[in-house]
Amino acid sequence: MLQLPIGRQRWHGATWAFLAVGLLLFGGACAGNKSGDVAQVAAGKQLSRANCAACHGQQGEGAPNWRAPGPDGRLLPPPHDSTGHTWHHGDGLLFRYVKDGGASLQIPAFVSGMPAFGQTLSDNEIKAVLLYLKTLWGPREGAFQTQVSKQELSP
Ligand code: HEC
Repeated sequence: MLQLPIGRQRWHGATWAFLAVGLLLFGGACAGNKSGDVAQVAAGKQLSRANCAACHGQQGEGAPNWRAPGPDGRLLPPPHDSTGHTWHHGDGLLFRYVKDGGASLQIPAFVSGMPAFGQTLSDNEIKAVLLYLKTLWGPREGAFQTQVSKQELSP
């Protein structure tokens, strides 16, 4: 009698493993359809761990309770994955935000906690980081962001 549930569980385990591998392959194919992209995403991941993770989290999960402002009233680092809103912005804005920092937007009364990386990272490195961040989004967020990028007036 014990055999059946265990057997079933094993079967489920195998199915999940199979699905997970399938999703990984599919995700990989979406993230980088050219082999150059795959290398760029890998480089971007490393750069992100080294430069962004201290604030935005190891997996881009953002600061805990990021939806509420911090004790000083400033915004906390939001997640870069689908639960955040990085994907609401087009490529041009994202690039500028990382290169020139949040203060560069010159929004009145907004004190940004997002530093400028223009002195630390090359343009290509910033692009690699952004390419990696795109792999943290689901298909819906990815499609939305592609659309927003197309509609941006300036690149
Ligand atoms: C010192 C902490 C800190 C570091 C390091 C940092 N960020 Fe941020 N980042 C923030 C904060 C805080 C915000 C919230 C908006 C603001 O204050 O401008 C933010 C916002 C952003 C946004 C806008 C997201 C949105 O949803 O509007 C992007 C994109 C971003 N960061 C990318 C990066 C990348 C890429 C790196 C690494 C190269 C990085 N950040 C490193 C603190 C940081």
